[in-house]
Amino acid sequence: MTSSATSATALPPTVAAHVPTGVLVGGRWRPSSGGGTFPVADPATTEVLFDVADGTEQDALDALGAAADCAEEWRHVAPRERSELLRAVYETLTARADDIAALITAEGGKPLAESRAEVAYGADYVRWYAEEAVRVDGLARRAPAGGNHQLVLRRPVGPALLVTPWNFPIAMVARKLAPALAAGCTVVVKPAQLTPLTTAYVAEVVRAQLEARGLPTGVVNVVPSSSARRVSGPLLADPRLRKLSFTGSTEVGARLLEQAAPNILRTSMELGGNAPFLVFDDADLDAAVEGAVAAKMRNSGQTCVAANRFLVQEGVAAEFTDRLTRAFEGLVVGHGAAEGTTVGPLIEADAVDRVEQVVAEAVDGGARVRVGGDRPRGRGYFYRPTVVDRVGREDRLVTEEIFGPVAPVLTFGDEAEAVALANATPFGLVAYAYTRDVGRVMRLAEEVEAGMLGVNRGMVSDASAPFGGVKHSGLGREGGAAGIEEYLDPVYVAL
Ligand code: SIN
Repeated sequence: MTSSATSATALPPTVAAHVPTGVLVGGRWRPSSGGGTFPVADPATTEVLFDVADGTEQDALDALGAAADCAEEWRHVAPRERSELLRAVYETLTARADDIAALITAEGGKPLAESRAEVAYGADYVRWYAEEAVRVDGLARRAPAGGNHQLVLRRPVGPALLVTPWNFPIAMVARKLAPALAAGCTVVVKPAQLTPLTTAYVAEVVRAQLEARGLPTGVVNVVPSSSARRVSGPLLADPRLRKLSFTGSTEVGARLLEQAAPNILRTSMELGGNAPFLVFDDADLDAAVEGAVAAKMRNSGQTCVAANRFLVQEGVAAEFTDRLTRAFEGLVVGHGAAEGTTVGPLIEADAVDRVEQVVAEAVDGGARVRVGGDRPRGRGYFYRPTVVDRVGREDRLVTEEIFGPVAPVLTFGDEAEAVALANATPFGLVAYAYTRDVGRVMRLAEEVEAGMLGVNRGMVSDASAPFGGVKHSGLGREGGAAGIEEYLDPVYVAL
């Protein structure tokens, strides 16, 4: 059985004292124009941490106004100056890593070690784009037909709306905000309602750096709100907005794309996943189990790159499932700030209800729970790490994104069947494969419909690499050299 960790530690008062809870417009934190607030709670205890300003339509328009007002000035700030600003933000985030990690754990629930890893991961996007800010290259060449030259310049797309999810409150804002600022765009950030505190903290770090350097503080604006539509609706319809970057569900992404269409907005969409985790007969099973735990259990399974379906070749299926079960038995569920915790809570009560429901449906259909399959007693939104085998291919546990700590195991006969199963989903964000056959690796890279492939590793995310998916998993890429392109328009000059 999985065990439970010891008692929780509250958010240190030194950190709590530095969390802005207002709306950031034009360099100033202020209450919501409607006067309202909404609560942000610790999912491990359900206790309210802060009441945060409930941004209104007017706040959203004011924020866009501030971003639009300084767009001209910001795009003419020298790339080196933008780079140095981002480098200073990176240094500050890194120096304050422990405080930020405590905040992430308090509002999102993940174990402190994971929160520290997220701070390093998020800060790395800021460092990467500090370096990219001065490497926005164009093109100069003689036209193929001769007679003239062609230049391609790049200029910032303009004010951008960045809509971030709750599961990585520093990394997701960092990988949108840093390339936007590096490219010369000003922004309005709409943080997730469930975890707006870390984002506000990061925005204040940027605001303070802008102010200290005499740069326009309206470059970064933040509108938390209990209603995403209240913020995104008026902004997507406003011709001053030129770009939307969204991370979240495919359903909401599709709706935002519709709303963005009349304004012909540039869009980047990082949407849902249903990652297959393929284990072939020739795999190193120790490595596969270690990778499986990493790919499944990061943030209690609440990531869009979480391994969602474990597809295991028949010859090693029993052995892999036994070992995975033992590994899950060794995990420690508890408050993320408690000593020894390796698995935190889910984000809210509905999330636990949904996970419980899809597991119950699979079990009704004949699936077998090898470990977990229930909630521990006590408060908080916990669900035990769970391994389920004999799962049906049409079970919701397999066809839908689980977003919880549940590993369904299915089997396949040969490589062709593995690829067919991997591709039997509208999603295509990431796939994982464990095999020692290099030829197979190259075939999988060609045939598996996913934007990313982890080979003998359960983790692909890296600030220097293009993160993103195909099919219903999204449009565009974040991170790497590709990430800044999303905030730049090419301008062709025939000379
Ligand atoms: C996500 O779950 O949306 C992002 C995960 C990552 O960047 O690794």
